[in-house]
Amino acid sequence: METTFSELTAAALSDEESRLLEKEARYCSYGDTVHYAEKPKIFQRCRGSYLYDLHGREYLDLQMWYSAVNLGYANAAVANALREQLDTLPQLACQYLHREKIELAAMICESIQRGFGMKGRVQFNVGGSQAIEDALKLARKHTGRSRMLAFQGGYHGRTLGASAITSSFRYREAFGEFADRAEFIPYPYPFRSPYKGDAQRMEDHHIAEFERMFEHEYTGAWNPKTARSEFGALFAEAVQGTGGYVIPPKNYFRRLAAVCKAHGILFVDDEIQMGFRRTGKMWAMEHFDVQPDIIVFGKALTNGLNPLSGIWAREELISPAVFGPGSTHSTFSSNSLGTATGLAVMKILEGAGYEAGVMRKGADFLARLKTLKAGHPEIGEVDGLGLALRMEMCEADGFTPSRRLADRMFQVGLEGDLAIGGRRLGLILDIGGYYKNVITLAPSLEITPAEIDLAILALDQVIARAKASLR
Ligand SMILES: Cc1ncc(COP(=O)(O)O)c(C=O)c1O
Repeated sequence: METTFSELTAAALSDEESRLLEKEARYCSYGDTVHYAEKPKIFQRCRGSYLYDLHGREYLDLQMWYSAVNLGYANAAVANALREQLDTLPQLACQYLHREKIELAAMICESIQRGFGMKGRVQFNVGGSQAIEDALKLARKHTGRSRMLAFQGGYHGRTLGASAITSSFRYREAFGEFADRAEFIPYPYPFRSPYKGDAQRMEDHHIAEFERMFEHEYTGAWNPKTARSEFGALFAEAVQGTGGYVIPPKNYFRRLAAVCKAHGILFVDDEIQMGFRRTGKMWAMEHFDVQPDIIVFGKALTNGLNPLSGIWAREELISPAVFGPGSTHSTFSSNSLGTATGLAVMKILEGAGYEAGVMRKGADFLARLKTLKAGHPEIGEVDGLGLALRMEMCEADGFTPSRRLADRMFQVGLEGDLAIGGRRLGLILDIGGYYKNVITLAPSLEITPAEIDLAILALDQVIARAKASLR
């Protein structure tokens, strides 16, 4: 009979950990992001806001799998829905229909109709990047264009098509050209803008620059004779995720979308990281008074259980007449375990007062981060929308980006050796940002006030230790 981890002594656990890590080093590709960590960590259990390593040490998670686990690990209602589905219809070829798929598509469409006042349809897929590929297909089909606009600092995934509209050249360099690379335009970045402190001027500047692209033919974007743009769609995140939880000014997207519309460019809203109430609203773009043509979602739809993603599009883009049978397919798209968990998640998120609760917790967390900033000049900026929070780590001048400090914080948290009120614990952080110096905080939407207190104490200690180790 196999021994369980809990039956092993501390020494035997360390041996077991070393054995597994040696095996990993021998048999697992290093192509994913595991080895961003100096010492990769093995976890064996998770619950609520916590992960537990092989030794039973707890780690407070402040990034919840890049916002895929909005309702906390092992959420009971979601797990029950999954269990029930396991007992009834655990698998079914996507060629056939099942109740949960239909109900979930309807719930998403109704939510979008409430949030944006538009009618449309949903197409499911498996991961975020694949859903982005479906959005690209729709945009290409509808506009006849294969070139897209996207943002500097934007992230839309790492399949070949999705990385062509993701600004980081690092993700593309080794793999050659596959799809037309997007034209990347600057995103309004309040903390690093020349108009810092003047949101209106920053917004005006970005809009004027965008409008200039369509003034004459020599910008490479517009043919005044045919009145057609070279670009099919603009891909946008309402709050940049991997880019460092950058929050644009209030009216920016409304004005930008109007320019797109005037030039026949579709507006694609990538909600993969910010959707499902990360920012309080069901869809983050609801904060910005825009009507997107296509909405892409993934991650938190199933609270990180069975993968499920998808797109919603306006009826004229996705009606059966234009996006007929076989236009897209993946064996596992609309898998029944995913749709059942998705339904459970949507029901929780649509509960009365959920949005207000997230906004209240977000405001509380942000106020506490501001206090933390007062004690550490290296925190250049803290900001947030709902529970999408950013903490930009800098040198002591409070502005020069400090990647090494953010890196140290990430490693110190992962060591699992913080001491707070007689408790030993670790902290799970994630780093984003153009300079890889932003701690992007995406705690569980179910986080408690006591956990927010703990998070602030733990962050304080992580920063102090990281600074000390760099001296
Ligand atoms: C905004 C955004 N779009 C797309 C993706 C890609 O999704 P996936 O990793 O599921 O392919 C991500 C993933 O982090 C994301 O944050």
